[in-house]
Amino acid sequence: MISKPRVEVCFTPNLFPLHIEDFQVVVVIDVLRATSAICTAFHHGVKKIIPVSKLEEAIEYKEKGYIVAAERKGKIVPGFDYGNSPFTYMNQNLKNKTLVLTTTNGTRAINTAKNVESLIIGSIINLNAVCNHLIELKKNVLLLCSGWQNKFCLEDTICAGAITDQLLKSGDFLIENDSSIASKYLFLSAKDNYFGYLKASSHRKRLKKLNLNQDIKYCLTPNQTNVVPRREKNYLIS
Ligand code: MLT
Repeated sequence: MISKPRVEVCFTPNLFPLHIEDFQVVVVIDVLRATSAICTAFHHGVKKIIPVSKLEEAIEYKEKGYIVAAERKGKIVPGFDYGNSPFTYMNQNLKNKTLVLTTTNGTRAINTAKNVESLIIGSIINLNAVCNHLIELKKNVLLLCSGWQNKFCLEDTICAGAITDQLLKSGDFLIENDSSIASKYLFLSAKDNYFGYLKASSHRKRLKKLNLNQDIKYCLTPNQTNVVPRREKNYLIS
């Protein structure tokens, strides 16, 4: 009897080695804001994104003439043209271009999972598109939350809970782990008002202090795009 594929949630990248065994597909989630920005970039025609973890790597690419975006603690890193605001990527100048991106957590999480069979990019703005893709694939899927500096974060877990809920509702998946149950319950309590529910979340407060409320509202508005970016070699395409 063929058993149904599993969906499981990994709260932070440093827990990844404890979860990854038997999983073919990994969805990397960084709702505020890296994976939302990546989806927005592809939705607006960016050709390729090279995610790097370290600033030194980003500087090397910049010296080679690449377009490089760098964010740390929510801010654009001095000396770089772009940061991590999704609004940056609604820019015609970036159409058909290759972009190098480094962020505090999101690009590190992407590189943590770089050796898996299939890596895709998930967020709230491409939620249904990701779920439809996973339901088609019918493989064990690990939802990797980027968190904040390897600590638990609410918004990524709620997004993982939303995906878990849809996959379970499809009847094609099962869960065997409490992290998935907890994520689903968090999603069920937040789903009618993500923005309000996340009022106290640490990263929302951080971005609010930087006057980035517009980014928060955008990243918490579901299903604005059908792109499902995926990893090929050392870069992302859609
Ligand atoms: C991250 O990677 O930590 C986030 O995306 C940071 C941000 O852009 O606010």
